[in-house]
Amino acid sequence: MSLAPPLLSLLCNPFTGEPLHERGGELVGAASGQRFPIRAGIPVILPPRPPLRARFYRRFYDLAARLYDGVVQSGGRWGINAEERLRREVIAQLALPPGARLLETAIGSGLNAAHLPPDIEYFGLDLSWGMLAAARRNLAAQGRAAHLIQADGAYIPLHTAAFDFVLHLGGLQFYADPFRGVSEMARVLKPGGRAVILDEAAAARRLLRRLPAHRKYAPDIPTAAASMTRLVPFTITEFESHLLPGGQFFQLTFTKPAV
Ligand SMILES: C[S@@+](CC[C@H](N)C(=O)[O-])C[C@H]1O[C@@H](n2cnc3c(N)ncnc32)[C@H](O)[C@@H]1O
Repeated sequence: MSLAPPLLSLLCNPFTGEPLHERGGELVGAASGQRFPIRAGIPVILPPRPPLRARFYRRFYDLAARLYDGVVQSGGRWGINAEERLRREVIAQLALPPGARLLETAIGSGLNAAHLPPDIEYFGLDLSWGMLAAARRNLAAQGRAAHLIQADGAYIPLHTAAFDFVLHLGGLQFYADPFRGVSEMARVLKPGGRAVILDEAAAARRLLRRLPAHRKYAPDIPTAAASMTRLVPFTITEFESHLLPGGQFFQLTFTKPAV
């Protein structure tokens, strides 16, 4: 199965920066000849030697994929429909214009898709094949076109300055290197493009506390939520992070400077 031209034209080797060409049912680095598989129409572009944390969560979400939608949609411990409302409100805030190109990192089973306008170009990546397979089923059931990629969000295999928006909900706490993850989001944004990142507030504290140089910025959950701006690369001048009402999630937003 050949990849759709809009996806193929944006793919690159995240470890070398070179373009990727489709040849004989796989992707091949234009200069290095490094090869990446295409599995059931989805490019698989993963680090050759992933850190232990990435291996663990990839396996974990492969196993959790079958149960994920049921657990999340039942409201779980966040209260009935609280998360659904959050998804709707965050996506409404983005005010995606027709034709906008959106990348969702850690797309999971694609639960945000139901809230997206129909007339955008939608790309999604996730570390877990199980979650991507669920996303593909969910998106097909909604008749929603999307370009899916299996990749680590800290090594996004997509060209620099290619996206109008990046959306991320609930995956950053699992990244082995969340700084690299946010920096990659900034890289793929077009000048003037905007990223919105949400995750559990308690996870913000855990995340900063596991990084020795940043531990002191997370004495409590509200301070940790505000300190998530520490993850934003120094080239970004417009950014902010805060605890959302209810105190269960934080939201980090930044805009790439227009040049
Ligand atoms: C709690 S789920 C959130 C899924 C989805 N964003 C949602 O809103 O339902 C976390 C997701 O992060 C993904 N993930 C964890 N580490 C990742 C990484 N390093 N790169 C990309 N995705 C990752 C997992 O596979 C899982 O799908």
